[in-house]
Amino acid sequence: MPVEIAPSFLTADLTRLGDQINETLQAGAERIHVDVMDGRFVPNLTFGPLVVSALQPLTQAAGALLEAHLMVEQPESLIPMFAQAGAELITVHVETCPHLDRTIQQIKDLGLRAGVTLNPATPLVAIEAVLSEVDLVLVMSVNPGFGGQTYLPSSTKRITRLRQILQERNLGQVDLEVDGGINTTTAVEAVAAGANVLVVGSCIYNSQGSVAENLSNLRDAIGG
Ligand code: DX5
Ligand code: ZN
Repeated sequence: MPVEIAPSFLTADLTRLGDQINETLQAGAERIHVDVMDGRFVPNLTFGPLVVSALQPLTQAAGALLEAHLMVEQPESLIPMFAQAGAELITVHVETCPHLDRTIQQIKDLGLRAGVTLNPATPLVAIEAVLSEVDLVLVMSVNPGFGGQTYLPSSTKRITRLRQILQERNLGQVDLEVDGGINTTTAVEAVAAGANVLVVGSCIYNSQGSVAENLSNLRDAIGG
């Protein structure tokens, strides 16, 4: 599967967010990843539906997918707002969904793609029952809450195992996304293990080069 890059603007220059997003889209990013944090499930408070609705015209014009990663308690209460704001894919944490199947159905009933994600210490078995219901599985390769963290090496075998399970179940169409600490080195490792979507934040926005240069370096590292 071709590898897509989903930049997370958590560590972008938020004083000029629109420009940063346009630079990112012009550089060929296939998705924009909105890291939504509520200060309860994770120790940080970030963006809401207003930011999603502000970015939606930009991603739509570029033909890029606008995806929301809900690192929030009780996501079922927020999903309609993010759908209304223009999110096209919503990913929820298994750790926050006692009725995970129903929450995934809620997302799909709104006409959106549905994703499920799990923290580094949550066993893969926690999401196995819903693999046939989702469009995407997001493997967290850091403990969620902040950009600029280091990729947890244990993530690689989780990615490998998950890709294996998807193949065994004939679910090759399910995207396997990885989020956290992705750079030109860990990107190669994650893709080799079976990831086909990479969430990348600080490697694009905090590094020395321009957004376009950083994205191009990432692409070169993973072979296009
Ligand atoms: C959870 C966030 C971050 C972010 C990626 O903390 O989801 O993982 O997207 O940030 P970097 O690429 O800087 O680790
Ligand atoms: Zn994320």
